Amino acid sequence: MNFARRSILELHGMKAEEINFVLDTAAHFREILDRPIKKVPALRGKSVCTLFYEASTRTRTSFEIAAKTLSADTSSIAVGQSSVTKGESLKDTALTIKAMGVDIFVVRHHDSGAPHNVASWTGLPVINAGDGQHEHPTQGLLDMLTIRRHKRNLTGLKVAIVGDIKHSRVARSDMWGLTAMGAEVRLCGPKTLLPPVTQHWPAVVTTNLEEALDGADVVNVLRIQRERQDQGLFPSVREYHRQYGITPQRLKACKPDVIVMHPGPMNRGVEISPEVADAGYAVIEEQVTNGVAVRMALLYLVLGGEGAV
Ligand code: CP
Repeated sequence: MNFARRSILELHGMKAEEINFVLDTAAHFREILDRPIKKVPALRGKSVCTLFYEASTRTRTSFEIAAKTLSADTSSIAVGQSSVTKGESLKDTALTIKAMGVDIFVVRHHDSGAPHNVASWTGLPVINAGDGQHEHPTQGLLDMLTIRRHKRNLTGLKVAIVGDIKHSRVARSDMWGLTAMGAEVRLCGPKTLLPPVTQHWPAVVTTNLEEALDGADVVNVLRIQRERQDQGLFPSVREYHRQYGITPQRLKACKPDVIVMHPGPMNRGVEISPEVADAGYAVIEEQVTNGVAVRMALLYLVLGGEGAV
């Protein structure tokens, strides 16, 4: 298959064939990460710039490792120490960096649509590393790669996504990607953390955790953003844990071979109990490793790398 996408901005609208192609490519790169010498020359001479307007541990670092493993050059704009603090706009920042000769941007921004704007202003390929409440497509892809490694086939799987659905770009990317692949997605959280309008979403949306977990093959637990408590969206983190926290007892409603995922960062004892986070069926660290492979695959496919796969 020819990979025709110039940028990766969202999973909404991505077809199963394309997703499978990315996941198959990532599966090859996953093998490189298990080698003693993790380096291939596929993107030698290419320049990757990460431009993050929000904090990140996993996404930013794994993009940098992915680019370096493919022998690309990397630069990283720490917005807090850049001319953004002097009022420089996103557009001027992006055009300035483009003028230095980068080949691709990886953008995280608090505004939905910011990576799309960077792509249109600069004419360069852009990978969305999380924009506002819109999407986090590389997280969606690494979640699907992780599920596929455990369950082989995504079609027909029951996937419960539990937590702050309303504000979660991960929930949106997972939903669009997984349903394109034929999985059944259940989105669950307290009413205040569910979006008001979901009729057009291809998922079951429920406040009933038992219903969401019933026979689930995969449970993806979302971070509860503690700052939401100040907005009155739930009474307390203790109350949230009592009603929606994922515990070993609650997981008994799922399939016996359920796997538990979390995009990170985790609040142990809030959305997920420490026993679940540390259990053998929790694949949270594996998600992080798969994240490097997925980001290698996307950089490789978008930049038209050669020879590694
Ligand atoms: N999952 C995720 O996006 O984590 P970071 O915020 O650490 O990148």
